[in-house]
Parts: sequence; C-alpha cells; structure tokens
Amino acid sequence: MFNKKTVRDIDVNGKKVLVRVDFNVPLKDGVVGDDTRIRGALPTIQYLLDNGAAVILCSHLGRPKGEVNPKYSLKPVAEYLKGLVSNPVYFADDCLGESAKEGAANLKPGEILVLENTRFYKGEEKNDLDMAKGLADLADLYVNDAFGTAHRAHASTEGVTHFKPGVAGFLLEKEIQYLSSAVEDPKRPFVAILGGAKISDKIGVIKNLLNKADKVLIGGGMANTFFAAQGYDMADSLVQEEALDTAKEILAAGSDKLVLPVDMVIANAFDNDAEKKTVETGNVPAGWRVLDIGEKTVELYSNLVSTAATVVWNGPMGVFEMPEFAKGTFAVAKAVADSNAISIIGGGDSVAAIQESGLADKVTHISTGGGASLEMLEGLVLPGVAALEDK
Ligand code: 3PG
Repeated sequence: MFNKKTVRDIDVNGKKVLVRVDFNVPLKDGVVGDDTRIRGALPTIQYLLDNGAAVILCSHLGRPKGEVNPKYSLKPVAEYLKGLVSNPVYFADDCLGESAKEGAANLKPGEILVLENTRFYKGEEKNDLDMAKGLADLADLYVNDAFGTAHRAHASTEGVTHFKPGVAGFLLEKEIQYLSSAVEDPKRPFVAILGGAKISDKIGVIKNLLNKADKVLIGGGMANTFFAAQGYDMADSLVQEEALDTAKEILAAGSDKLVLPVDMVIANAFDNDAEKKTVETGNVPAGWRVLDIGEKTVELYSNLVSTAATVVWNGPMGVFEMPEFAKGTFAVAKAVADSNAISIIGGGDSVAAIQESGLADKVTHISTGGGASLEMLEGLVLPGVAALEDK
C-alpha cells in the first residue's frame, strides 16, 4: 500500500513545481545511452505541464563529489528531453545560483527548466539544509519522482522537504507499489532470484527474502561463497573469505528455501576466450574458476520460475559482461519473461539482459532503481519516500 500523497492530491495550476527526477543515465561522449529513467519520469512531467504548472527538474548525474565537472553535466540530458516533449525546455547551468533563480523566476506554465547537476555542490550528499532551502525556494511545490535515488537522504531528496512539503510522482508511486506488494503481500509461490558477484552487497536482501519468499535462487559469483562455506574447493573462483561465516549462517537458516546452482560453467582464465567446460558442484579443478551457471541449473531455475505466481529478479547469474558467460543470465531473463507470474526485475545487468533479449514487454515491472530496488527488497524504508506527506 502506498500511503503518500501524490501529484494527484495537490493543485498545481499556475504553480512552479520542483521535481526531483533520477536523470542519472549513462552518457557516452555527451550522448544519452539507455533513456529508461528519462522516459520513466515523463508521465509526471507531462501531467504537471498539462495541469498548468511550470516544471523545474533537478537531478544528480554520476558521482562528481561536490565539484563542477563538465563530464557530469546534465545539459545533454536537457537536450535529449527536448526530443521527448513538445513543451519548451530550458537549461540552467547551476542548480542554486543566479541562473537557477532567474530561470525559475521567468519560467511560465507549460515550460520546463532543467537545473545543472545537484552533486556539483558538496551540500547535496551531505543533505545540507542551506542547499535544500535554496532548492526549495525556487518553487512553490516539491515532487519526488526519483525512485532510483530515493534510498539517498540528500538535499534534493530529503532535505528539501523540510522547507516545502513533498508529494510523490507517478514513477515513484508505481515502483513502490510493485516492489512493496511483491515483498510484503506476494501472490504465492513467490520465487526470488538473486545474482551478482558479492554476498556482502546482498546479505540484508537474502535474509529478508528468505523470510518472505518461498524459494530464493542464487546465481553469480556469490554462489561460490556459499559453496566454499559448505566446504567445497572453489579453486580460482571469486570467493569472499570474509563473508564465509555469514554464508554459513544463511545456509543454516534458509536450508529449505535457498537454492544453489547444481552445475556451473568454469574457465581456465578470466577471459571471454578462455577454455571452458561445465561441471557439477564440487568439481572445479585447480587453476579454473566459475563464471556462469550451467544448463542443468538453468533448467532447474526455469522450472521453479514457471510455477511461480510472483518472481523478483536482481543480479546476473554469471560474468554478464563477457558474452560466453552471459548465457545463464539470458536464460533466466527468458524464463522470467515466459512465466505467467507477476514479474519484477531490478539491477543494471538483469535489466540489460531482459532488454537485449527483446523481452522487456513481457515483464510486469522493470525497476529504474538499482540500489533503491535492493533496499526495497531488503524491507527498508527509503528516506526519500519517508520524507513525503502522508495521505
Ligand atoms: C543509481 O544509479 O543507482 C542512482 O541514480 C543513485 O546513484 P548513486 O548510487 O550514485 O547514489
């Protein structure tokens, strides 16, 4: 249940509305790559414009660490936005100073002003209240539609609400609704698939999902640490020695729900062109390493997914950036797309796999949040959401 006010609950006509979006999109040589996050914010932006608001957009891009750095400018994103909306789009080369104040003051209903990267100021990540007030003072109302950044308590996501009460945009609302109902009130069987290199990044998520899901399928490098915790020699595979005790604890607590790979693709070097073969658990020879799940595991996981009523997937099953070891991840993408379950996918590599497979439209919800969606799966309250007005 989403119990925060949204843009539907406020009168925006004739108002200046500051909207925190997550326009932290991949840029290469100043050209926007995957534009999912920009498109994801369009319904809110368009709704506000259509209802007579002037829209001031703010976001971070990358991690410029409080320094102005042209590499992380939002200007190319503002240019890109011009191609997606018919309304005028202006750009202010600062999010707080004169250009922002003037741009905001002159902005008319139906127009958009994109502010420069909020992380060009140190105050953003420190949740500095002066910075938050500076942002809030630009507008009459504040809307947060930046789901991907809602796990950060920053000046533009949390601090600003101390000066202007905030409501949610449609993307934020949709993300929270899908992710929280999957975790808190899932249709069963509920199967979660978790991948990625390190257990340490996902301990909280695994623990929470072992309580909530019926099965938790593990893939990616973190499976190695579970195998090592069971006493298998994983040879040159990535194993997180410091997480072995945690892995043992999780294995003991989740033995009936946790499902580990039954076979694995191994290689004699960390190289796409390395010699490779498939072995069963416990058979990794010296000098070899696990880089993907094997076909029997794909079959096992696909069968479990096919019987699920809810599927949540986050994280690759192998070394996704190497095509030879991306096959397990693509196979899981297909299984999730083929299932009749409510399916939710989060995390860069899993989302890339489903998009590259051309199967994205068969998935119920693709999250625009990486860290934010993981924190939701962990059962945490996101500070950017907590700060918004209750219904
Ligand atoms: C993301 O890409 O996950 C969000 O935009 C947050 O970015 P951050 O991890 O740099 O805070």
